[in-house]
Amino acid sequence: MILLTLETTCDETAAAIVNDRLDVLSSVVASQAKLHEIYKGVVPEIAARAHVERILPVIDDTLKKASLTLDDLDGIAVANTPGLSGSLLVGLTAAKALCFAKNLPLIAINHLHAHVYACQFGSDSPIYPCVGLVVSGGHTHLYHYTSATENRFLGGTIDDAAGEAFDKVASMLGLPYPGGPAISKVALNGDPTAFKFPRSFLKEQRLEFSFSGLKTAVRYAITGPGKFDLDAVSIAEQTVADLAASFQQAVVDCLVAKSVQAVEQCSSQGVPRRLCVGGGVAANRVFRDQLAIQCQQKDIELHFAAMEHCTDNAVMGAIAIERFKAGLFEDMNLDILPGLIREPQTG
Ligand code: KG4
Ligand code: ZN
Repeated sequence: MILLTLETTCDETAAAIVNDRLDVLSSVVASQAKLHEIYKGVVPEIAARAHVERILPVIDDTLKKASLTLDDLDGIAVANTPGLSGSLLVGLTAAKALCFAKNLPLIAINHLHAHVYACQFGSDSPIYPCVGLVVSGGHTHLYHYTSATENRFLGGTIDDAAGEAFDKVASMLGLPYPGGPAISKVALNGDPTAFKFPRSFLKEQRLEFSFSGLKTAVRYAITGPGKFDLDAVSIAEQTVADLAASFQQAVVDCLVAKSVQAVEQCSSQGVPRRLCVGGGVAANRVFRDQLAIQCQQKDIELHFAAMEHCTDNAVMGAIAIERFKAGLFEDMNLDILPGLIREPQTG
């Protein structure tokens, strides 16, 4: 079985061709980072228009790289939730048009669950059942997966996503967008204990995250308590590095603690002690290393998405193969769902 998978939920226009042995026949990601850089975040209208320009060339390129044509495909899968409305619409419309023209089945991809599925590419054995952490620019959510197509929402951020906090703090520190790679780079020269930043809910059992207080604490560390004008201060290079390292450590502490807590709680209900982590922030080296140490100490089997499959890509859309096998197809009424559905999901 050969599927074309499309990803246009945010600011990457991506397509991949995968088969049911999980071979990646081709993968193309057209990043829009340069277009959004000056705004220090994704501008939805600009993203949607850039997707319109890129989607067909990206699909053509993907087919060409795999030396295939649309006639070789058994189905087309597209991420229709969650994401930016205009961006999602471009991918969904392209997928529907091609399915209609070629009489191919249409398969829906949930972008968040696809991030976790990316871990399957690095594993010889099935990763499900497991606890999954999706840690990206838009989400920081924990799920209990019984299979690739069945899950239960365990908890998530009550305000900012971890990646969003990285992006906003980077902007405060005068670092480029996207903030995650920029912060982790300058943090290499910083002291993670230099500033004492808050770690929300760390000692509580609730599986929730909050990063907005942390963001404010970084701002006050720069401007002084109660002051907001970042332009009024200039920060020494070493202080930027210390702020970046201390901020990164606070985020990592929360991500590590809550992921381990989630595994412990699920394990007491008979779920295997297996943790799968995907999403852009999963590319963070300090996070990867510190979570690996914790999981080893606590006898938890840990799977990270490969670095190249952490940030948005269409290879992770191979989760659609599981839906295809389960007979979960969509009709032409399939719509976008920009917001997140938190209820337990089957299928
Ligand atoms: O998964 P993703 O590409 O898009 C969403 O689904 O949101 O994640 C993008 C996010 C951005 O916020 C970016 O700053 C963050 O992932 N990110 C990182 C790193 N690389 C990307 N955050 C921390 N450390 C990194 N190395
Ligand atoms: Zn993503």
